[in-house]
Amino acid sequence: MSSSAADPIARFEAWMAEATKAEPNDPNAVCLATATKEGIPSARMVLLKGVDARGFVFYTNLESRKGQELAANPNAALCFHWKSLHRSVRVEGGVEPVTAAEADAYYASRARGSRIGAWASKQSRPLESRYALEKAVAEYTLKFGLGEIPRPEFWSGFRLIPRRIEFWQDMQFRLHDRQVFHREGEGWRVEALYP
Ligand SMILES: Cc1cc2nc3c(=O)[nH]c(=O)nc-3n(C[C@H](O)[C@H](O)[C@H](O)COP(=O)(O)O)c2cc1C
Repeated sequence: MSSSAADPIARFEAWMAEATKAEPNDPNAVCLATATKEGIPSARMVLLKGVDARGFVFYTNLESRKGQELAANPNAALCFHWKSLHRSVRVEGGVEPVTAAEADAYYASRARGSRIGAWASKQSRPLESRYALEKAVAEYTLKFGLGEIPRPEFWSGFRLIPRRIEFWQDMQFRLHDRQVFHREGEGWRVEALYP
């Protein structure tokens, strides 16, 4: 067994590297599923901004629908689909907030306009008019001037700590290859599934 076969994170990184070469844009785009406390699901796209042995990191407005669902029910699933490679990866697990230092570092790396946008957007709440959003952007642009733009306390990231990672590769006649890694203690148990 190669090391990447034993280590799903290494295998994910290898697939992401191939997707980065093959996809026309946003190879790190991923569908994120969350659910209410009652278990009613919702899904939307986000961008994966980090992955390592600890898990999969994305950033968002904490007061958004996804932010509220994750606060009430800290479980989530991710589904990547790289059309150009005929591949998909599914990840499931619990989520925890990233540290303030980690969120600050990522926020500081974003374009100034995106940092202002984070302040101006009450993500997922009703927008009375496009003008209201543009006015908020203008107000925050004026407020921060040329100075530092601190990270809003309502904007941060989550780390999904995987307990299950599935690699799906398209094969002829829909006899696809599916390999699932289940977390077991410090390691992983791998099994194949019927397509
Ligand atoms: C390709 C793509 C990437 C996106 N990346 C993010 C992201 O990283 N974070 C985010 O909050 N929203 C992102 N969005 C917007 C979300 O899909 C969604 O509209 C927004 O987060 C509100 O979702 P919610 O109301 O379920 O919280 C992205 C959308 C697309 C299409």
